[in-house]
Formats: sequence, structure tokens, C-alpha cells
Amino acid sequence: MGVFGRNHARVYKELEQQGEPVRLLGVVDPDTARADAVAREFGCKAFGSVAQLVTTHSEVQAASVAAPTVQHLPVAAELLRAGVDVLIEKPLAADLSEVEQLAKVATEHKRVVQVGHLERFNPAVQATLPVLTQPMFFEVHRLSVFTPRSLDVDVVLDLMIHDLDIVLAFAKSPVREVRAVGLPVLSGKVDIANVRLEFESGCIANFTASRVSTERVRKLRFFQPRQYVSLDYGRQEVLVFTVGSDGASAGTPSVNPQIGVNKIAVASEEPLHAELKSFLRAVRQRSTPVVSLEDGKRALGLALEIVGAIRAHGTKVGLAGMATVRQ
Ligand SMILES: NC(=O)c1ccc[n+]([C@@H]2O[C@H](COP(=O)([O-])OP(=O)(O)OC[C@H]3O[C@@H](n4cnc5c(N)ncnc54)[C@H](O)[C@@H]3O)[C@@H](O)[C@H]2O)c1
Repeated sequence: MGVFGRNHARVYKELEQQGEPVRLLGVVDPDTARADAVAREFGCKAFGSVAQLVTTHSEVQAASVAAPTVQHLPVAAELLRAGVDVLIEKPLAADLSEVEQLAKVATEHKRVVQVGHLERFNPAVQATLPVLTQPMFFEVHRLSVFTPRSLDVDVVLDLMIHDLDIVLAFAKSPVREVRAVGLPVLSGKVDIANVRLEFESGCIANFTASRVSTERVRKLRFFQPRQYVSLDYGRQEVLVFTVGSDGASAGTPSVNPQIGVNKIAVASEEPLHAELKSFLRAVRQRSTPVVSLEDGKRALGLALEIVGAIRAHGTKVGLAGMATVRQ
């Protein structure tokens, strides 16, 4: 029940109060003081381990796993074996062999596994889907200030993976080439990274992610024939610039009279609300979740390839300490 697990508990409780068919039964943390505090706050029970939860409450049907990444496999596997469907926070696991183990247990026990790629449920992302045509060039920035959380993984698995998942979903093409540079700054792992992906389709995507910035930025911009789309995840805003002889009629004229700009309507919903509602729907309907284990595996595989490319680049150019940067 760390910082993000508390958010999951809050939203499950809100959904319960809003009449969704769900009841928040309890929270688990080996740090029992934390579990107790969150349980008191949201009126549920506290447990020190998954074993304690599932042996006392065989009626548990679904759970979110928001432990540190290295704990995702042991925690989720124990829940799956006990017959519980799981939403596992991103990044899905520490490596692909762990994903294979998760997939095996989930199949054996016929359980639903959703991966917590939260930005898929950002209303700005949802509002962008209908305007996607043939994106050819992405420019993505995700900058945040330093906090001593999620330091068990580097910035690519911690932050950039959100955008990798979105761009993979938007570009709909296999990755042909990865070029990457990154530096450790404060954590002993890579804290800032810049990546260029080329897709089989010819589409190019540039990503910058930092967890040692002085500002907070979460923006994705892309270009497609006759259009430029600017998506701000944080403000939940989408602007579409369209070129045409009747550009102005496509929206409010922008600086150039041939380019019209439209601010598209974005629903107002907390992404975590939408994510957990969607997970509970998949649990009830026994359907494949919107962000499946396969999607989580694809984003993790690409993130790990980028981590390898960063290390190779650092070694090649003789960056001090890169050979010892831990994955
Ligand atoms: N989707 C998002 O936008 C988003 C945002 C933040 C964090 N996360 C993810 O959520 C996860 C947790 O991140 P956080 O920032 O809350 O970290 P945190 O350090 O605040 O919390 C982790 C908690 O897990 C507990 N824990 C450790 N081992 C456990 C176990 N075996 N069983 C149960 N609990 C255990 C710890 O005691 C701690 O309270 C990470 O995977 C992170 O990547 C996702």
C-alpha cells in the first residue's frame, strides 16, 4: 500500500460508493503500519501478506498489484493461484522470463490479467483515437521531478514505458530500429533518456523521459498527412491542426489562414477510475482486458531493448559508469 496502491484503494472505494458491483475488502502490505493506515482511511481490512488475505477470505475475486516491480511476479502469481483476477501495475515485470511465468499461471488458473498502462484510459488518449489516420512522426516528452520511488527500475521502465505503450498502440507497426542514449543522474540507474524508434511503416518516434527535471511535462505530439495533433496528458487536452484550402472551416484559423485548429472534446474522468471500471468489466465478463498481458509484454520487451541500447551506447562512447549501470 504505497503511494499508488493507496490510489487504487481510494478509487475502488469510490466505485463501491457509486454503486458499481464491487466491494473493497482489504489491503495488503508487509509494512503493516501502512496497510493499517490505508485500511482505516477507506474502511476495509489490513493484511500483512497475500497468504493471510486469501486464506481468510476465499471470496476475493479481483485485486490490484501495486508493489515494487520486482515483487509483481511473486505477488501476482500467488493471487492467480488462489483464483484471483489481477490488475498488475506497469511495468508488468522485471524481465520477459517473469512475464512467461505470469502467463503460464494465468492460463493454468483461467484468470484475467490486465496491465496498469493507465494512459490508455486518459480521456485525452481516448479522444485522439478517432482522429488517428497515418501517424508518421511522434515527439513525446515525459518529465518529472525526482522522488525516491520506483528506483528499483530505470526511467525507461518507470516513465517512458507509458509512452511506449501508447505509441505502439497508435503506430500499429513493428519496431525496425532503436537508437537510445541515457544517463544516470541521481539514482545509480538511468534517470534521463532520449530514444528514437523507427517503425516498419516508416514512422519515426522520438521520446524524452526524465525523472530528474525541474518541471512536470507529459506531452505527445504527432504528425500525419495534413494534420498535426498535440496531446497533453496532464491537462487532458487535444489540439488538432488541419491543413487545407478551406483550413479555416476545419476549425478556428490559426496563425496561418490555411491551417485550422480544433480543440477536440475530451470527457472528464479520472484515468484510474476508467481503468479500474474497465478491469472489473473484464472480470465480470471473463473477457480480454483493454490492456492485456500481451500488451504489457510488448511494452516491456521494447523498454528492455531500449535499456540494452542505452548501455551499449554508453559503453561505445566511453561514458563513465555506464558499464556498471544496473538494469
Ligand atoms: N500507472 C501509473 O501511473 C503508476 C504511477 C506510480 C506507480 N506505479 C507503479 O505502482 C507500483 C508501486 O509504486 P509506488 O510508487 O506506489 O511505490 P511505493 O514504494 O510508494 O509503494 C510500494 C509498496 O509496496 C509494498 N510492498 C513491498 N513488497 C510487497 C509485497 N510482497 N506485497 C505487498 N506489498 C508490498 C511496500 O511496502 C510499499 O508500501 C510500481 O510498479 C510502479 O511502477 C504506476
